[in-house]
Amino acid sequence: MSSISRLGVLTGGGDAPGLNAVIRAVVKAASNCGIECVGLEDSFDGLIEPDRSRLLTPRHVTGILRLGGTILGTTNRGNPFAYPVSTSEGTHDYSDRVVEMFHQMGLGALIVIGGDGTLAIAHRFSGCGIPVVGVPKTIDNDIVGTTNCFGFDTAVAFATDAIDRLHTTAEAHHRIMVVEVMGRYTGWIALHSGVAGGADAILIPEIPFDIEHVAARLLERDRLGAKFSIVVVAEGAFSKGGSLSLVEAARDGRVERLGGIGVQVCEALAHATGKETRSVVLGHLQRGGAPTSFDRVLATRFGGKAVELVRCGEFGTMVAFAPPDIVARRLEDVVGRTKSVPMDFDLLTTAKRLGVTFGD
Ligand code: F6P
Repeated sequence: MSSISRLGVLTGGGDAPGLNAVIRAVVKAASNCGIECVGLEDSFDGLIEPDRSRLLTPRHVTGILRLGGTILGTTNRGNPFAYPVSTSEGTHDYSDRVVEMFHQMGLGALIVIGGDGTLAIAHRFSGCGIPVVGVPKTIDNDIVGTTNCFGFDTAVAFATDAIDRLHTTAEAHHRIMVVEVMGRYTGWIALHSGVAGGADAILIPEIPFDIEHVAARLLERDRLGAKFSIVVVAEGAFSKGGSLSLVEAARDGRVERLGGIGVQVCEALAHATGKETRSVVLGHLQRGGAPTSFDRVLATRFGGKAVELVRCGEFGTMVAFAPPDIVARRLEDVVGRTKSVPMDFDLLTTAKRLGVTFGD
């Protein structure tokens, strides 16, 4: 057991339902074994700027289990390695300051709750001597080494509910409804919500699509008597020979923003089928609201395990879900990689067997 008496906790990257559940679990588990918790605000900003941190006791986290968002705030522009500052001694990035502040604050460990970008930053700080434990978060479910990230189940539940609602109006008007969901470069949300919502076509980045194949399948449905169809499109999907649809290119340390493929698919299907089509973008609604019970439980288990890893001195690690267990993975085995939907994934092959088209 390590003799750490004070740890820092932060949330980085886009928010995901369940962040507060992790914070609560970390604070309670740590407090119960005599470790003090300092909450750092807005990702690594809490270790750059003074007065951006506060002590968290179990009383401060009472009632946050079911809340979306994060009581600590977050940012996806919080990479201290990407912000050079000019001083009389030359140009430095902010990472030195983070390390300095970490020690000044008397912290013995840092729990970093974030997605791939934030975990990559955590890994770099681990190399700078900060004892780090990561907690994987993202609605996209694209982090390597863990079957699930918390937030994913909530996003899928929301998207499924939206698809259910679109079904009734699609059927009433004999229309094709196209729904664009998040997921960045992977199709996990589209695949799971599409299958759960009974979609007829699911377009994911892992399978570049041919719009004519999609149209042919939807027209076949018409001939068989179903005069409406539901198409779920992942924001990162693209056609064969085509490219990603962006609303904003990467700039100033910000990652590129995906979006717009839903509208394009909608227009292309109207043209190819001659049917009335409409499109909906679910956007950030997928990230808001209360976490599902699954995500609350997973987030709580992640938080508890993260504190255990701190106590055991197992740093440079990330907690992960390897059903039925919560395990530790080495950060170097995880960061910089993306967990895509495998082509032999049972849910994908099952959907195909049921007649769902992926446009391939
Ligand atoms: O990674 C989570 C996610 O919601 C992606 O699905 C989406 O592409 C992106 O974040 C949107 O990020 P922002 O908060 O910058 O709009």
